Amino acid sequence: MRPSTLSLRAATAALILASAANGQEIPPDFTISSDTQLLAAYGTPPDVTVVEPGVLLDFAIPRPTPPALGLAAIPSGTTGPYMVVMTDPDAPSPQNRSSSEILHWIQLDISLTANASPSESGVAFPYVLANTSNPLVPYAPPQPPAGSDPHRYIFFLWEQPEGFALPEGYTQFNATNRRLFNVSGFAAAAGLPEPLAANYFLCERPDNMTATATSSGVVGATSAAASATTSAPAQFTGGAVALSVGGASILGAVGALIAGLL
Ligand SMILES: *[C@@H]1O[C@H](CO)[C@@H](O)[C@H](O)[C@H]1NC(C)=O
Ligand SMILES: *[C@@H]1O[C@H](CO)[C@@H](O)[C@H](O)[C@H]1NC(C)=O
Ligand SMILES: *[C@@H]1O[C@H](CO)[C@@H](O)[C@H](O)[C@H]1NC(C)=O
Ligand SMILES: *[C@@H]1O[C@H](CO)[C@@H](O)[C@H](O)[C@H]1NC(C)=O
Ligand SMILES: *[C@@H]1O[C@H](CO)[C@@H](O)[C@H](O)[C@H]1NC(C)=O
Repeated sequence: MRPSTLSLRAATAALILASAANGQEIPPDFTISSDTQLLAAYGTPPDVTVVEPGVLLDFAIPRPTPPALGLAAIPSGTTGPYMVVMTDPDAPSPQNRSSSEILHWIQLDISLTANASPSESGVAFPYVLANTSNPLVPYAPPQPPAGSDPHRYIFFLWEQPEGFALPEGYTQFNATNRRLFNVSGFAAAAGLPEPLAANYFLCERPDNMTATATSSGVVGATSAAASATTSAPAQFTGGAVALSVGGASILGAVGALIAGLL
């Protein structure tokens, strides 16, 4: 059944409660939504942070690599593979969205497998989503500018259409060109149905941290996104340590923040 309103705010009661708890206004600016929570967690056991819908995450947590993802159940009528899109509709700030959306991540070719040993991992996802290819647009961690209220970082999951490629009007998006994305328009142009699952968190830059702007629209995102493969920014250590749940390599790893450098 379709959600009664077409906003993320209405996606689940949990979303509403979480956003109310955070005192955040969630503008009804999405024409797509999902009743199903995309399970997501950052970090490596034992330091795992589960993304509760609407939670305000410490700046250090969602970096440098994407979260582990999962589902409570196999979406009915789907066989996979699946695809994930992450977007920030609040750039440069929730009050001034002139750069929005910022595209943070497009990952295709995601498999879904039952989690064989949930109790042994730090992440007890019943079903684990794992990427089987490099991202189409690499993950860029949140980089809200200094002084901005928290931004929303929203994940959407779809079953991937056969032969999927970036639709007309969206082929310019890549690792260095992320501004003025429109996930609703993207979904419409690609002929995607309602998302199978969604989730979001909030993140803001600590007052004592500064940032340098880049042309990508994600402040500092170019180096941050590249950190998983090439040059890690000086302030992060750790890098891509693969989480393993039930023998499956899953999306997710995080670096430890050296607070002294920031
Ligand atoms: C909104 O942000 C853009 C980009 O930073 C800036 O150029 C513009 O002046 C801002 N608009 C307002 C009304 O503050
Ligand atoms: C999954 O994506 C990561 C980057 O997020 C990449 O480093 C890794 O090689 C990918 N896994 C596979 C099997 O392609
Ligand atoms: C991204 O696309 C732009 C054109 O839209 C192009 O100039 C740039 O080289 C591309 N960057 C990468 C990393 O592919
Ligand atoms: C984004 O796409 C939706 C759906 O196509 C459209 O209604 C909306 O006007 C677009 N937003 C912007 C800012 O272009
Ligand atoms: C910034 O603030 C955080 C927490 O408020 C603190 O842990 C950190 O050491 C501070 N960093 C600097 C460079 O002052």
